[in-house]
Amino acid sequence: MDDQLALPVGTTLDRFIMRKQEEFAYATGELSQLLRDIALATKIVNREINRAGLLGVPGTYAHQTVRGEEQQKLDMIANIRFIRALRNGGEVCTVISAEDKHLIQTGNTKGKYIVAIDPLDGSSNVDVNVAIGTIFSVYRRVSEAGDDGTLADCLQKGAKQVAAGYIIYGSSTMLVYTTGCGVNGFTYEPSLGEFFLSHPLISTPRQGSIYSCNEGNIDSFPEGVQAYVRHCKAQRYTGRYIGSLVADFHRNLLKGGVYIYPVTSDYPDGKLRLVYECNALAMIVEQAGGKASDGSGRILDKTPTDMHQRTPLIIGSRDMVDKVQEFMAKESANLK
Ligand code: AHG
Repeated sequence: MDDQLALPVGTTLDRFIMRKQEEFAYATGELSQLLRDIALATKIVNREINRAGLLGVPGTYAHQTVRGEEQQKLDMIANIRFIRALRNGGEVCTVISAEDKHLIQTGNTKGKYIVAIDPLDGSSNVDVNVAIGTIFSVYRRVSEAGDDGTLADCLQKGAKQVAAGYIIYGSSTMLVYTTGCGVNGFTYEPSLGEFFLSHPLISTPRQGSIYSCNEGNIDSFPEGVQAYVRHCKAQRYTGRYIGSLVADFHRNLLKGGVYIYPVTSDYPDGKLRLVYECNALAMIVEQAGGKASDGSGRILDKTPTDMHQRTPLIIGSRDMVDKVQEFMAKESANLK
């Protein structure tokens, strides 16, 4: 921790990654390279997003995603850019993406790592200039190196992540990541083409006063969640919901709050994807002192059975997540 504090605000991402690597005597530099590859792709995607309005890039393709939803052009562009950077970097044997049905083999059969990515989350917000994000998880492969990665490599529980992060393309572009030793945030300076450490060792408040959920769906929330929302109103908490997970999560991480996407009648298993969205944010929130649950257990302990599996998500300040769980447990006890 002291060493991390020694890295001042303004340290470039490259230098930060290098210094972190030096702290581990046996580090080979492969994870560091992988993180640099992601940062490089981020710069390119950021440029595409910033130009999108002028070039008329936003809009929908005629086809649908594997989830049966409309796919935005920028989704595809971001998907291609991240996969290409990871393929060129050489450290990753297999990528799985929220935008692809199948495993993407990079051909780097000696690569030790697997990356799960949602290249552009919240893409329905693209056309209206609202903040969007990229979410990624890094796992060490469990299969022997020398061949393509396997489905078993990709279906590891979130607790096995060796790194996780997100990029928020907002009023400024930020990359926030953890390798399991705290969470650090870097802000992009476009004129210099560099990320600089701006939010060292992020710690989320234990209790906040923001609740985030799509209240338009409240009638189909579980009764315990409905009761929790009533509790928030009675406490005069602030309701904030952008509908762009990374943006909602980022705000609550810094300010304190809870984000809830429970089961609903439209999404009986929850809407958000365990492997591409929830695991990475769960690792980050835990590293920052917060909590992530599916309503009954820890997100990071769920073993996925399907790459595109969905889950309910309650994530944010520790005491608020506990309170939601308490309300849910009480309601389910009442039903018995
Ligand atoms: P998409 O990438 O298809 O726009 O999905 C966005 C996700 C997530 O980012 C957001 O928090 C949630 O879906 C919003 O869902 P609702 O519109 O149902 O509230």
